[in-house]
Amino acid sequence: MEQYRAFEWEPKDFKLETTTIWSFKDRGKWATHSGEYRGNWSPYIPRNLIIRYSKEDDIVLDPFLGSGTTLIETKLLKRKGIGVDINPEAINIARKKLAFNINPEYEPIIYNLDARNLYALPDNSVDLICAHPPYANIIKYSKGIKGDLSQMNIAEFLQEIFL
Ligand SMILES: C[S@@+](CC[C@H](N)C(=O)[O-])C[C@H]1O[C@@H](n2cnc3c(N)ncnc32)[C@H](O)[C@@H]1O
Repeated sequence: MEQYRAFEWEPKDFKLETTTIWSFKDRGKWATHSGEYRGNWSPYIPRNLIIRYSKEDDIVLDPFLGSGTTLIETKLLKRKGIGVDINPEAINIARKKLAFNINPEYEPIIYNLDARNLYALPDNSVDLICAHPPYANIIKYSKGIKGDLSQMNIAEFLQEIFL
């Protein structure tokens, strides 16, 4: 028999992390979150960052958007989300996951850009950055998009991410 889970828009019994070591009872399946995008982060991570370090209506940037985990949380938590990814395929995935009608006035803005050059954003226009960059070249996120940090060897990756 097919199994159905009750659909939840918020995590049940959510408690803000209080120490520097975070541990979650599961990866988090509320709203449209799922673990399909390789190496995506548990939604508990951006939820903790956003609640602890920003307030309603603040502008929250994720410069490595991926499947949109952070922006799902900004929309649910009434922050103005901005997402950037160099890969248009990631942006398509994120847009599908953001196609829900909770808090539609907090629909995020998404740019297909290189995080190393955020010319579209004015200086001092962001309140919080939640960044989950590629794991150096361990997971390749594209088939050779120029500027994709996951295509670079370790020396190039370190140079580009830290300088
Ligand atoms: C670890 S994934 C982010 C996953 C995301 N936190 C999620 O939950 O889906 C890293 C992302 O960085 C993107 N990326 C790689 N190089 C980039 C660059 N130079 N600028 C912007 N995005 C980049 C990849 O396309 C990939 O989607």
